[in-house]
Amino acid sequence: AQTAVLAAEDLGLGSCYIGDIMENFEIHKELFNLPKYVLPITMLCIGYPTEQQKNRTMRRRYFTKNMIVHKNIYQKPSVEEFRTMDKEIAEKDSPVFLAGCHNQAIHMYKRKITSNFMTEMNRSVRAMIDSWLKS
Ligand SMILES: Cc1cc2nc3c(=O)[nH]c(=O)nc-3n(C[C@H](O)[C@H](O)[C@H](O)COP(=O)(O)O)c2cc1C
Repeated sequence: AQTAVLAAEDLGLGSCYIGDIMENFEIHKELFNLPKYVLPITMLCIGYPTEQQKNRTMRRRYFTKNMIVHKNIYQKPSVEEFRTMDKEIAEKDSPVFLAGCHNQAIHMYKRKITSNFMTEMNRSVRAMIDSWLKS
């Protein structure tokens, strides 16, 4: 999918990964005629971006490069690195967190884990695996 995104970009096309394709397994199985054991993991929407989309301000990236690119071994970010990132977010973006969340990480975790889409994704993937185990 990443290669397709890069190729599309080169042709002036924009794209959006859709991880939600893992939801509603029963519908997607029928829609795409998916054989047994085929697990749709991502879908790509590709199209020509509007002027507004082309000129949009990119979202700020908080992770430093060494938190994302690891050499030879996985390098778990330190608590200090997370604290620095958290401080930057608080200073630059004045974010509003969900109730009971005191930082960005917990806010994001709660937003995802308690969301309806995550509940559906869990159900859908379970249904997929169950369908493979049958006969
Ligand atoms: C693995 C993955 C799955 C994603 N799934 C969805 C999705 O289901 N629906 C959606 O609207 N965007 C989805 N996105 C797109 C993100 O919401 C976001 O727009 C994209 O990563 C670009 O982020 P940026 O605007 O910070 O560059 C997904 C992105 C990734 C990397």
